[in-house]
Amino acid sequence: MLEIKNVTKSFGGTQAVAGCSLSLAGLKIAGLIGPNGSGKTTLFNLITGLIRPDAGKIFFQDRRIDGGMPHRLAAMGLIRTFQLSRVFPRLTVMDNMLLAPKGQAGERLRSLLLRFPLVRRQEGEHREKACELLDMLGIIHLQDQFAGNLSYGQQKLLELGRAVMAEPQLILLDEPTAGINPRLIRTMIDMILKMQDQGRTFFIIEHNMDVAAELCEHIFVLDHGERIASGSPREIQNDPRVIEAYLG
Ligand SMILES: Nc1ncnc2c1ncn2[C@@H]1O[C@H](COP(=O)(O)OP(=O)(O)OP(=O)(O)O)[C@@H](O)[C@H]1O
Ligand SMILES: [Mg+2]
Repeated sequence: MLEIKNVTKSFGGTQAVAGCSLSLAGLKIAGLIGPNGSGKTTLFNLITGLIRPDAGKIFFQDRRIDGGMPHRLAAMGLIRTFQLSRVFPRLTVMDNMLLAPKGQAGERLRSLLLRFPLVRRQEGEHREKACELLDMLGIIHLQDQFAGNLSYGQQKLLELGRAVMAEPQLILLDEPTAGINPRLIRTMIDMILKMQDQGRTFFIIEHNMDVAAELCEHIFVLDHGERIASGSPREIQNDPRVIEAYLG
């Protein structure tokens, strides 16, 4: 599925990711943890083609993807969310869902195409799917609200919904539960587990160790851009190198 081989990325004098290798082969929900500034988001940026590694290779479905274009990767089934939610604040919740990233025609083109029955049917199916997901996320009653009016946690749920609309195989979530209340964290966890049951794979950056332990069968730990540990949540929590990285 996803394989990272010896990837390195520096910004000026800072080595953000340092010879990092990892594989998600056989994993359904993998976690990525590490202290602030340890290179987690940079690794996601490298995987999703926002930046290019200085060295190393990244493979998705056995195809080399490092330095690829985010929209092409989305079409291949690799989707991400951002650490700070990035919904379209001036579009309604429903329109955010319908503008899912996977190779969709622009707004004007879409309204033109809607004259054709096939496209209209597709639109109907999309809407049905969007309703189903919004219902699962507990925000269906907000479908006609501007996304900018939602609470921060609700926006993060909406962003997860948008990601799933694109029917990705692998979803990268950058701190999905950060800054949201416990009730919405519960909804987020349940949604991720449900989506995993439907065959989707997740790679999740998570600061909350309880959440990481509940969700992830396997966790990778970064410190100063290096992979310092990897294993089950229990192994990770008892690993002296991990404890030192967090305390040091
Ligand atoms: N575009 C950039 N330009 C310069 N330095 C950067 C850039 N992006 C990241 N860095 C630096 O690279 C290092 C890793 O940052 P990164 O955002 O990947 O960490 P992180 O593990 O996601 O941290 P956090 O837990 O705070 O989100 C940091 O020292 C950061 O300042
Ligand atoms: Mg980050």
